[in-house]
Amino acid sequence: MADTVTVHVPAKVNLQLAVGPVRSDGFHELATVFHAVDLIDEVRATRAPQGAGVSLTVLGDDAESVPADASNLAWRAAVALAKHAGIDPDVQLTVTKAIPVAGGMAGGSADAAGALIACDALWRLGTSRADLDALAAVLGSDVTFALHGGTAIGTGRGERLSPVLSTGTFHWVFALANGGLSTPAVYAECDRLRGSAEVPAPMIAPALLQALRAGDAVALGQAMVNDLQPAAVSLRPQLGLTLDVGLDHGALGAIVSGSGPTCAFLAHDAESALDIAVALSGAGTCRTVVRTSGPAQGARVIAMS
Ligand code: C5P
Repeated sequence: MADTVTVHVPAKVNLQLAVGPVRSDGFHELATVFHAVDLIDEVRATRAPQGAGVSLTVLGDDAESVPADASNLAWRAAVALAKHAGIDPDVQLTVTKAIPVAGGMAGGSADAAGALIACDALWRLGTSRADLDALAAVLGSDVTFALHGGTAIGTGRGERLSPVLSTGTFHWVFALANGGLSTPAVYAECDRLRGSAEVPAPMIAPALLQALRAGDAVALGQAMVNDLQPAAVSLRPQLGLTLDVGLDHGALGAIVSGSGPTCAFLAHDAESALDIAVALSGAGTCRTVVRTSGPAQGARVIAMS
């Protein structure tokens, strides 16, 4: 029986984020194309004595700004899974961050998905995929996608997934900002900017799906669009400068990732990604720059000991 289970879980970028009207539950109706990228948080679950409950240590990039208590989504995921299984949530969790905190790349959701998979293996529950999806959807809008990875359409709050056919590998550069942006604040700013205008039902652009099917990075770069971008740029005007730097240095497309403030740049190839990364680092408008690729696999066990 394993005493420690280690899980890797990817960040996401929304290739399109179409934000529709506000629903009666306060969430916005979405149509989005999620794309998992190889920027990975590690979640480790270690056996704890009976009655110990959950404990959590957060390590890595910007760890000090992550709450290591019962409000953390990874902690809540462990409690939700144990409740579902009718057992006590005795586990020591260690989360090692590489995904930017409050960066619009679903880092907290990734940690929740990682905790579900790690605890399910540690406690030898064999929870069905459907039950894990249901638990994930309650934890947050992006947690279900972090379980699945790859590239997928999300509807509803983002938790209802359907697969997307995508070929090839895409090269990405991410510009990480100083400090995060609050997701609710960005949605609220989006509502404020829209004022009383009628908001149409959100739709995915056929050109974007066609670009993914064909593995066509040039067409994908042109089709990428994020309805939250005006709101994120309104709250953090410097993001406009960062996006321009990437576009001026060969990016095929540049968008704010999710609710921001991370900016995502699609590159032609690994060499072009390096050029974009060097230019962004030199411009001094962001905290750090990461080069990676997608699509990446969803939450998965990488070691048991
Ligand atoms: O589901 P999650 O916890 O990630 O959502 C965080 C916040 O983002 C919500 O409380 C809400 O303010 C906003 N949100 C939204 N519509 C969505 C998803 C998130 O308004 N579809």
